[in-house]
Amino acid sequence: MRIHGRHYRTIFPAEDGAGVSIIDQTKLPFAFEIARLSTVEEAATAIRDMQVRGAPLIGATAAYGIALAMDADASDEALAQAVRVLGATRPTAVNLHWALSRVENRLAPLSGRERVRAAWTEAEAICDEDVEQNHAIGANGARLLAEIHAKTGRTVNVLTHCNAGWLATVDWGTALSPIYQAHDAGIPVHVYVDETRPRNQGAALTAYELGAHGVPHTVVVDNAGGHLMQHGKVDICFVGSDRTTASGDVCNKIGTYLKALAARDNDVPFYVTLPVTTIDWSLDDGLAEIPIEERSAREVTNLVGIDEDGAVHDVRVVAPGSPAANPAFDVTPARLVAGLVTERGICPASREGIAGLYPDYTRSA
Ligand code: MRU
Repeated sequence: MRIHGRHYRTIFPAEDGAGVSIIDQTKLPFAFEIARLSTVEEAATAIRDMQVRGAPLIGATAAYGIALAMDADASDEALAQAVRVLGATRPTAVNLHWALSRVENRLAPLSGRERVRAAWTEAEAICDEDVEQNHAIGANGARLLAEIHAKTGRTVNVLTHCNAGWLATVDWGTALSPIYQAHDAGIPVHVYVDETRPRNQGAALTAYELGAHGVPHTVVVDNAGGHLMQHGKVDICFVGSDRTTASGDVCNKIGTYLKALAARDNDVPFYVTLPVTTIDWSLDDGLAEIPIEERSAREVTNLVGIDEDGAVHDVRVVAPGSPAANPAFDVTPARLVAGLVTERGICPASREGIAGLYPDYTRSA
């Protein structure tokens, strides 16, 4: 996406050839900083500390992490260790394991010398494919927005949760890609952006992205969605996913499930946008089988912000001594999902619907 007068991807080989460049998302929305990853350990830390985040981008970073590891040591032991270290960073987004398996399988039969080049090539291919898939998701989802506009003749109001925009992927995003493409095509769109506590990815990142692209939007507290839907202010919900089962259960940022419940009660179509790399073909029951990341209680007890002078403040907002829990994701059962918007088209959130779009994938894929 264009930002500060030039086109950026969220991750790319460093222009001076030394390592990998990322947009440091812990600095947004107040500062746009490019950080350098030089080692596999730095790649793992960037994922764990959420300098990069969002399921597809976590996968892309892991792939580059393997390339950085191979630069230092292309032995079998180093490859296995890199997969272990990167695989232990965040448990929920399946794109991480998908990317690690893809690169590991590609490198395993190769000699050490061949591995270095192949790892970089594979990481770049993963990124290029991600951009292509997200663009196609956008084209498919934009048709839904165009249909609503054609029917109502007015601005289409979308509600989104967390950040599933270009910052969460290599480019374009999943949930925001249809919004960008509809907006660019002249369809009037307005987005209600859930702030997305505790880390505020909506308020900080989605609002930043939409503002930079000129898309009209309003940030709302996480609890406002139900009220807005009851009053007819939301035409459609678009969210992303960190892992979707082969049966259509959707895991996404904590709070997504509550929005889906409110959407169902108010007849608002609730769509999930995702690339094939987010489908976990081995799982049937999202609630029972998807591992939910539990993050630090400090993300709940404290708020981090910046004052007019640029000074960062980290302040406690929870009563001293009260414990806090921080499950980072929840699962929305397939029955609450109006459809899955993928790079291949839109399908029902069901085993049959997904198999219809992806007949070439099997349980073991
Ligand atoms: O904890 P995060 O910020 O990595 O969570 C991100 C989300 O939940 C996104 O909605 C999801 O990864 C889809 S990104 C296209």
